[in-house]
Amino acid sequence: MDRKLVIAIDGPAGAGKSTTAKELALDLNYRYIDTGAMYRAITLLALENDISMEDEDGLTRLAEEAEISFTPLTRDGNTVYLNKRDVTDAIRTSLVNNNVSFVAKVAGVRHALVSKQREMAQNGGVIMDGRDIGTVVLPEADLKIFLTASLKTRTQRRLDELQDKGEVVEYDTIKDNLETRDSIDSCRDVAPLKKANDAIGIDTTGMTIKEVVTRIIQLMQGV
Ligand code: CDP
Repeated sequence: MDRKLVIAIDGPAGAGKSTTAKELALDLNYRYIDTGAMYRAITLLALENDISMEDEDGLTRLAEEAEISFTPLTRDGNTVYLNKRDVTDAIRTSLVNNNVSFVAKVAGVRHALVSKQREMAQNGGVIMDGRDIGTVVLPEADLKIFLTASLKTRTQRRLDELQDKGEVVEYDTIKDNLETRDSIDSCRDVAPLKKANDAIGIDTTGMTIKEVVTRIIQLMQGV
């Protein structure tokens, strides 16, 4: 395919968005933009600076002033920089997991990050994943995918991922975090987690990443 597309991938936590998006980006030589990492980076900054999760103005200021960037993706992953500091691992802790949905509810934070995300998606050849990419950030995307999977599958995937990194975590702790985040993300007033009307839903329960990637490449050929 000659034309470089803009692809939006949304869905709940642990549905396989980032793994799928990274595989696709490497296969197609597209850029990958992880918008969840951006909300996580602001959450980290708030926790480090003792900004309360209820202080909407304080959180908005952090998001407006923060400089967030990603190094190009390789088979070894990519690095997330926050104000020139490598925060790739620091944004994946349980503390950030437990607070990020409160930061992501704040309209001012979303406004600041959405404009950075739109800038990053200019020129096409981009795969962006998140919760509101097809609905709000890139409503004109060439292809919109909404990934889901059963809660059991999503919990098990997240557990395997953390255990691979050597972390000791309980199945139920992860399940509770995914359920809580999904509920806050889906019920918030601004840009809730929702399938865009023109998004194609893929239930990845029982599918391998390779199968999901193949399905999306097939869908791209129909664009
Ligand atoms: O990887 P995982 O599915 O656990 O989550 P993530 O994509 O890193 O996103 C972390 C959190 O950021 C979500 O639970 C949302 O609260 C928020 N988020 C959002 O509100 N909008 C986005 N476009 C991306 C993430």
